[in-house]
Amino acid sequence: MDIFSKFTILGILFVLTVAFGFWLSHLGKPYNGILFNIHKLVALGAVIVAISQLFKMITVANPISLVVVFLILAAICTLVLFASGALMSAGKLDYTLMLTIHRVAPVLLTIAMAMAGYLLARTP
Ligand code: HEM
Repeated sequence: MDIFSKFTILGILFVLTVAFGFWLSHLGKPYNGILFNIHKLVALGAVIVAISQLFKMITVANPISLVVVFLILAAICTLVLFASGALMSAGKLDYTLMLTIHRVAPVLLTIAMAMAGYLLARTP
C-alpha cells in the first residue's frame, strides 16, 4: 500500500473532526452534547490511527532525523488540541485564547504530519 492510501483513513477522520468542530462552534454555547462527543471521539480515533500508522513507519526512520522533530511537533499539537478543547468546554481559562489556540493547532498539526509523511515516504 502506498503512503497516500495509508493516510486516507487518517485524512477522512481529520476532515470529519474539523467539520464537526466548525459545526459545534457554529451552534455555539452551551455545546450540543452529541456534536461535542462526536467531535471528541472522531479526534481520538484519528489520533489512534495516526499513532498506529506512524509506529509502523517509524522503524524505517533514523531516530535523530527531522521526521522525529515533526512527529514530536505533531504530538504536542494534539495534546494542545485536547487540552484547549477540554478547557473550552469546562469554561476554564480565557475562552478567546483557548479558541485561538484550538484554531491554530490543527494548521500546525497538518503541516507537521504532511512533512513527516513526506520525509517517511522518501525513505528507501
Ligand atoms: C485532532 C483534534 C482536534 C481538531 C483538529 C479540532 C478542530 C476543531 C476546529 C477546527 C474547531 C472549530 C473552531 C472554529 O470555530 O474556528 C473546533 C471546535 C471545538 N473543539 Fe475541537 N478539535 C480537536 C479536538 C478536540 C477535542 C479533543 C475537544 C474536547 C475535549 C475539542 C473541543 C472543541 C470545542 C468545545 C469546540 C467549539 C469551540 C467554540 O467555538 O466555542 N476539540 N475544533
